Amino acid sequence: IWKLAEEGDPARGLPACLSCHGARPTAAVGLLPRLDGQRARYLEDRLDYFAGDAAPEVLAPMTEIASRLTGDERAALADWFAARPPLAK
Ligand code: HEC
Repeated sequence: IWKLAEEGDPARGLPACLSCHGARPTAAVGLLPRLDGQRARYLEDRLDYFAGDAAPEVLAPMTEIASRLTGDERAALADWFAARPPLAK
C-alpha cells in the first residue's frame, strides 16, 4: 500500500497521495489536510465518503481519486497514514 501512497499507479490514473499530502505539499492546491497520525477510522470514513455518490463535485480531486480505489485499498491507506508520526508544524 505504501506504493500507492508514495508513487501512485499511473495505469489506473492514480497520483501519489504524498504528492499532495506529504511534508512538502504541491503548490498547485491551496489548502491541503495532513493525514499522518490522524485516526484510521476517520481517514477511512472520509475516503469512503469521497468515493460515494453523495460527495459534491467541489471536493475534487479527492472524489476522483477515492472512487478509483477499492474499499480494501481505502482501509489500508487509512491505516498506513494513521501509523505515521504527525508532521512537524
Ligand atoms: C492532487 C492532490 C491530492 C492527491 C494526489 C491526493 N489528495 Fe487527498 N486531499 C486533497 C485535498 C485538496 C483534500 C481536501 C478535500 C476537502 O475536504 O475539501 C484532500 C483530502 C483528503 C482526505 C480527508 C482528510 C481530512 O482531514 O478530512 C483524505 C483521507 C485523503 N485526502 C486521502 C488521500 C489518499 C489516500 C490519497 C492517495 C490515494 C490522496 N488523498 C491523494 C488533495 C489530494
